[in-house]
Amino acid sequence: MAMRILLVGATGRLGAVVGRTLTERGHDLVTVGRGGGDVRCDITDPEALDALWARVGSVDAVVSAAGDVAYAPFEELERAAYVRSFEGKVLAQIDLVRTGLAHVAPNGSFTLITGVLSRDPIATGAAAAMANGAVEAFVRAAAREIAPRRINVVSPSVFTESLVEYGSLFPGYESVDLADVARAYVKSVEGAATGEVIELP
Ligand SMILES: NC(=O)c1ccc[n+]([C@@H]2O[C@H](COP(=O)([O-])OP(=O)(O)OC[C@H]3O[C@@H](n4cnc5c(N)ncnc54)[C@H](OP(=O)(O)O)[C@@H]3O)[C@@H](O)[C@H]2O)c1
Repeated sequence: MAMRILLVGATGRLGAVVGRTLTERGHDLVTVGRGGGDVRCDITDPEALDALWARVGSVDAVVSAAGDVAYAPFEELERAAYVRSFEGKVLAQIDLVRTGLAHVAPNGSFTLITGVLSRDPIATGAAAAMANGAVEAFVRAAAREIAPRRINVVSPSVFTESLVEYGSLFPGYESVDLADVARAYVKSVEGAATGEVIELP
């Protein structure tokens, strides 16, 4: 069944592939970003999120492929970097769910994004690991309270397509192709799972 889906981060590396995959499956997307997309919105700004929902109305699913975190050696990661990472990846996605609840269909879903660092951290990744772990804990908890609406989080390893930039930070890690990550979003949006952390590979 074709769904109306709000996709945050559609201009990004991951979001572009997720958007293309969901569109090819017949869904109708409303794309969101700070600098591009059908609607401009910074999801770290709760007032901007309220304005986004007022403009977009109802959807069947909300999909996030966004989230900024700081990377630096542990001794250089200052408190402000943790706060920025928490706001950029954790609170931003929690607020997307919190403000979106009234606008998602009764049997609708949320799909958020984290990453491998919560379970297999790298050097320079303490703030990212913190953020990913917090989002995953939130998703497990929220699933119990928002049924029959569903919520999952996709937690991929480094993308094969990102190895050129970040590969040296992930020595010996198995990468994951963006096409496989996009399939995990399809599983979350179209399937029956809830409260799941979909780990890839
Ligand atoms: N790259 C990897 O190997 C990898 C591996 C595992 C997990 N991840 C995670 O996957 C996610 C996407 O990664 P990526 O490599 O695709 O990043 P990216 O290319 O930088 O794309 C991020 C997208 O999110 C949007 N965005 C960021 N912050 C936003 C905000 N506050 N409000 C609205 N839109 C926002 C950006 O658009 P605007 O700038 O226009 O807002 C952009 O479209 C991140 O959470 C990342 O941690 C990445």
